[in-house]
Amino acid sequence: MEKHVSAVAERGRSQKQKRMENIKITWVFVSHCLILLLSAAILSAEEQVDIRRSDFPHGFFFGASTSAYQVCNIADGTSGDIANDHYHRYMEDIEIIHSLGLTAYRFSISWSRVLPSMRETWWVNQAGINFYNSIIDNLLLRGIQPFVTIFHNDYPQELEDRFGGWLSSLMQEEFVHFAETCFKHFADRVKYWMTINEPNLLAEVTYERGLFPPARCSPPFGHCASGNSDVEPLIAVHNMLLAHGKAVKLYREQYKSKVNGVIGITVCAYMYTALTDFKDDKEAANRALAFNAAWMLDPLVFGDYPPEMKRYHGSELPSFSSEERELLRDSIDFMGINHYGTLYAKDCIHSHCICNDSVYTLGSDRLIRGFVYTTGERNGFPIGEPTGMSQFFVVPRGMEGIVNYMKERYHNKPMFVTENGYSSPGNEDDIYQHDVKRIHYHQLYLASLAQAVRNGADVRGYFIWSLMDNFEWSSGYALKFGIYRIDPQTLNRIPKTVCYLVQRFLEQFQPWCCRIV
Ligand code: BGC
Repeated sequence: MEKHVSAVAERGRSQKQKRMENIKITWVFVSHCLILLLSAAILSAEEQVDIRRSDFPHGFFFGASTSAYQVCNIADGTSGDIANDHYHRYMEDIEIIHSLGLTAYRFSISWSRVLPSMRETWWVNQAGINFYNSIIDNLLLRGIQPFVTIFHNDYPQELEDRFGGWLSSLMQEEFVHFAETCFKHFADRVKYWMTINEPNLLAEVTYERGLFPPARCSPPFGHCASGNSDVEPLIAVHNMLLAHGKAVKLYREQYKSKVNGVIGITVCAYMYTALTDFKDDKEAANRALAFNAAWMLDPLVFGDYPPEMKRYHGSELPSFSSEERELLRDSIDFMGINHYGTLYAKDCIHSHCICNDSVYTLGSDRLIRGFVYTTGERNGFPIGEPTGMSQFFVVPRGMEGIVNYMKERYHNKPMFVTENGYSSPGNEDDIYQHDVKRIHYHQLYLASLAQAVRNGADVRGYFIWSLMDNFEWSSGYALKFGIYRIDPQTLNRIPKTVCYLVQRFLEQFQPWCCRIV
């Protein structure tokens, strides 16, 4: 009898649980529909662009990006050591990528996980190799193309302690050794390689503004313990470019043939537009472009720094020997473009600039910045809607602008938009409101990209930054670019509404728009 009563109670409990589950699922579904409807209402008629998968060429990759240090490890509270424990949850993350219908996943290899110490020890950590092997195999099994960034900001501390990291030419051979280790183990399956993520931005935030470790700078850029903001960024980039060239040569000679892979680099690629119609400001906008993305890409396509830089810089701009120019010329198969925003540019050669209104305008009147003051405001009005990142504004036309610039300057070399994403201002407590904005952001940026493609730009893929909220460098966990949220207690992955749009767009070939039909 007792047994019977407890069985009935048990049945009742599980029915109740099921009912609750159903209510929860219905509620999630209804709330997502409401958000989509709400977002439709928010967009003005002019902004209602329907963007479809078929607006992009056949075989165009749609993917999401992460980097090792930002997602990999386990929580401790203060650094990327927290991150999202991707190291243990990568299978779940791959299932997520698959369920969204994404066809590519861009991730980086943690240098110290694979090579915990310097080249001279020849120590390869097999556990690290196994981890990346498993990621690659499981992606391929699900038809997802791995895009591997070899270096995305993190290297073993020993390289910093022994010779000062990228400020030393010794770093070039260390990088080549790391790259070769990656090629040796993974080039039989990985087809898309990027050597270094954003050398230009890394040099700026590390050696010019002193915001990233080892935090080196000099006034007026900041007050660091040591550094030289006018010179060190140039040296660091020079070493990164040569490291890239050497790794690419090795790849092409020994590994490319394995799966006929391709190799490129990713650069931070802001779009700049003149603050006024004056000729000087128009020239300043061109200079800003040359001192930013072209600083990286001219050497890798044409074999030397941009003429715009050489015109002003003297001996502080390192020079390439003729063998080095040969090594670098044509050393990319594609350009990876990380594009987040557009800024106004104002000339500081012929007119006076106020250069201390934010950490990013300090030093605008210096040569290292190309004597260009960049700002997101004109007459008190922002260039686009502000986001969580002070220098990123929502300016969708900038996507078409930067892609066209690349197309013209580099004779339409193949491109991938390797990062584009939205971080909400505030803490995303009001998830729905932020979700609508994120949906809107990707919709409009994709539409602008589609326009560039229609005009003939050879763009072959688009990657959302980021698959999930993660460790946003000096902003910690406050800025959230992810299309998945991470529950801080459980580290569970929770889809934001944008995920439903991605799914509809990719799997059901529905337009990426905010109307529910
Ligand atoms: C970097 C990412 C970063 C993102 C957003 C890019 O410059 O590659 O690591 O999280 O911008 O700030």
